[in-house]
Amino acid sequence: MSFFAIDQATARLNRSELAVPGSQPSMFEKAAQSDVDVIFLDLEDAVAPDEKEQARKNIIRALNDIDWGSKTMSVRINGLDTHYMYRDVVDVVEQAGERLDLIMIPKVGTAADVYAVDMMVTQIEDAMGYKNRIGFEHIIETALGMQNVSEIAAASKRNESLHFGVADYAASTRARTTIIGGVNPDYSVLTDPDHGANRATHWGDMWHYALARMVVAARANGLRPIDGPFGDFQDPEGYKAAAKRAAVLGCEGKWAIHPSQIALANEVMSPSEAEVTKAQRILVAMSEAETAGKGAVSLDGRLIDYASIRQAEVMVEKARQIAAA
Ligand code: GLV
Ligand code: MG
Repeated sequence: MSFFAIDQATARLNRSELAVPGSQPSMFEKAAQSDVDVIFLDLEDAVAPDEKEQARKNIIRALNDIDWGSKTMSVRINGLDTHYMYRDVVDVVEQAGERLDLIMIPKVGTAADVYAVDMMVTQIEDAMGYKNRIGFEHIIETALGMQNVSEIAAASKRNESLHFGVADYAASTRARTTIIGGVNPDYSVLTDPDHGANRATHWGDMWHYALARMVVAARANGLRPIDGPFGDFQDPEGYKAAAKRAAVLGCEGKWAIHPSQIALANEVMSPSEAEVTKAQRILVAMSEAETAGKGAVSLDGRLIDYASIRQAEVMVEKARQIAAA
């Protein structure tokens, strides 16, 4: 292990994260009653310019008045290139900062963007005398943000998570995309012809590089990597396939842009009973091995060693968080 210690961000369950437009207060109660882990009330792209001010008021009232239970609450502010952003931060943090766990910063491009919001939030928190510190979640959704993802991830002690915003990322990189978070059949591999001249087409995941790059930056800075939206909410199988790919790469959660996607995210992002049982058996086997003076043993015909312990501990800890939720 490197001598460099990675501080882990505040631990939160973040299997599912529901996007709720701030301009649609009729959706708030249902969101509060849902099984989602994190809710972000949106002031950015789901809200039309004419509705921004009212949406801000709706969000402030809702944060103060609705019983959100133990849900983690976030607000997605407008981008730093808009004149809405400063008022989003000032009004929401001043008037509802006590029930706000996180601020979601969209289209973050540089570490200086994070610094600017951190400075504002710090001043407001100090002036208001808040005890809790609000955390940051950053959407990596531009070419600039992806280029600077490591610096962004390290830019503030408030940072908790990085989110892959596939829709804006596609726009920014001018990727040829079909639906939000979906795949494009043109991104495929054609197998060599066999003797019968048969060739198969294997679809690829055009988002693999971007997601994997974000996961590395998040984990190297102790943050949660979270996969963003999947636009076709009539396609639960497509959603689950995307969520599974993200989970395999190390993501802890995925957005839900429709309430029907919450259960899918929670299912895919929770370890199965079999996985947890296996992890517990690995911990027992390794502890016995250690007592016997061995660093590696076999379990069910497979080698396990100290790296297996670390993986198993992560799994058991996740199961504990879910049970406690
Ligand atoms: C999310 O904001 C996205 O652009 O995908
Ligand atoms: Mg976006």
